[in-house]
Amino acid sequence: MEKLIYAGKAKQMWTTEDDEILKVVYMDQATALNGKKKDQISGKGILNNHISSLIFEYLTQQGIENHYIKRISDTEELVKKVTILPLEMVTRNVAAGHFTTRFGVEEGKIFTTPVEETYFKSDELDDPFMNNSQIFALKIATKSEIEKMWEISRRVNQLLTELFKKMNLRLIDFKLEFGRLKNGEIVLADEFSPDNCRLWDIDSNAHMDKDVYRRDIGDLTDVYKEVLKRLQKVLTED
Ligand code: C5P
Repeated sequence: MEKLIYAGKAKQMWTTEDDEILKVVYMDQATALNGKKKDQISGKGILNNHISSLIFEYLTQQGIENHYIKRISDTEELVKKVTILPLEMVTRNVAAGHFTTRFGVEEGKIFTTPVEETYFKSDELDDPFMNNSQIFALKIATKSEIEKMWEISRRVNQLLTELFKKMNLRLIDFKLEFGRLKNGEIVLADEFSPDNCRLWDIDSNAHMDKDVYRRDIGDLTDVYKEVLKRLQKVLTED
């Protein structure tokens, strides 16, 4: 029998008949401000599942090892079972969001070298910023594991910056999560969708990500549909 083992803000994880495989169910819930703003948005789960599956398939083709196996329905996908590290690894190409509020810089400032930030994944603690010595003190990951995760993040940044450019979108920033396989190996996990990255239209600078919901500046499903449409187009042309 399938058992629910984790219910997050936008996804659930279920066991399957295979001990090494889990099922992810994408839900229609949107949250912001660490869950303080919350809404049901019909169709969001389908869109994120489709977008994230296509991106993970692309990353797999490009040699990025990850947990993704396949999409099995509009809202469900199968993934390899991993132990998720309680870390959110954020990469920023351009200043936006918390970088602008925390450091008082203008949105849109381009960084010559991408900014890399790590946060401790904890809803109760509001995902506090975490530096390497804090990560080592709590034995969350070793120095070489952290370096490996940043190397993967940099490669993902290169690959997706190029891919989104072909979709007339700028990859402003994004958050990745990693997990440990049974054999201890660290692989990319979680999802990649407009819920966990910022995308700006190259011509209009329009926000094409969850900021439309966070800031109440547009219709989330319209925007995510447009991202999916452009993604499908560029992947079929390639
Ligand atoms: O909010 P902030 O500016 O720090 O977000 C940086 C990037 O990380 C954004 O793309 C945002 O969507 C993502 N993020 C996330 N989950 C969080 C915090 C940030 O996906 N808990």
